[in-house]
Amino acid sequence: MINIEELKNKITFADCFEIMQQLPDKCIDLAFIDPPYGKKCDGGSYGFGLTPKQYQKKKWDEKIPDKKVFDEIFRVSKNQIIFGGNYFSEYLPPTNAWIVWDKVSDYNFKNDFSQCELLWTSYSFAMKKFIFVQQGFVNGDPAEALENRWHPTKKPLKLAEMILLWLLQTKRLEGDALVADFYSGSGTFAIACHNLGLDFIATENDADYYPLSVARLEKAQAQQKLNLWGC
Ligand SMILES: C[S@@+](CC[C@H](N)C(=O)[O-])C[C@H]1O[C@@H](n2cnc3c(N)ncnc32)[C@H](O)[C@@H]1O
Repeated sequence: MINIEELKNKITFADCFEIMQQLPDKCIDLAFIDPPYGKKCDGGSYGFGLTPKQYQKKKWDEKIPDKKVFDEIFRVSKNQIIFGGNYFSEYLPPTNAWIVWDKVSDYNFKNDFSQCELLWTSYSFAMKKFIFVQQGFVNGDPAEALENRWHPTKKPLKLAEMILLWLLQTKRLEGDALVADFYSGSGTFAIACHNLGLDFIATENDADYYPLSVARLEKAQAQQKLNLWGC
């Protein structure tokens, strides 16, 4: 067994399955995760126009994780929120408690990009929508829009914060909860947890992303956290 305290509030360079196998049952309050969708969106050319963004091509999005990995996610965590839940329907039971990420709001974009993304959740609530505009280079957070984006499937920090804040406000998550992001990528969900004063563990197994995500997290950790939840 691994000492979970040693994993807390940092990103660990590891295969998430190997870490989960060393964790006790239900030691994580919420697995807030964004696993590979199996869409081969792990690099290459993104966007449109004359200057599409180029990312180093990787292989982590060749296929969705094996069932044994999802079994471990469900074993170690009490609740789960899973980005791209529609890609993992073979592992996930039906529910009405989906979160819809509305990426367009009232804008009338003339492109073929996805207008929504679906997050499967283990909670019980009527389907819930969060609006955060993200279409190509258009980004609802001016600060994030200016950042040098180096991860091809980075999720918006503000969206992650909105979801976690709503869980806290509706008491679906306690302030002393432990959140896990087993597919940390650029570290977005770890930073969202930090910004809201939540403890987290995170794993990333790509040797290029890992140091960049640690630097991004440490920059956030150098700022004072909100600690709104008395923990
Ligand atoms: C969809 S991306 C996550 C993006 C992240 N939510 C963000 O905002 O940056 C999935 C990430 O999981 C990582 N990954 C894939 N398989 C993994 C595994 N077995 N263990 C740990 N990380 C893994 C990939 O390298 C990739 O960075």
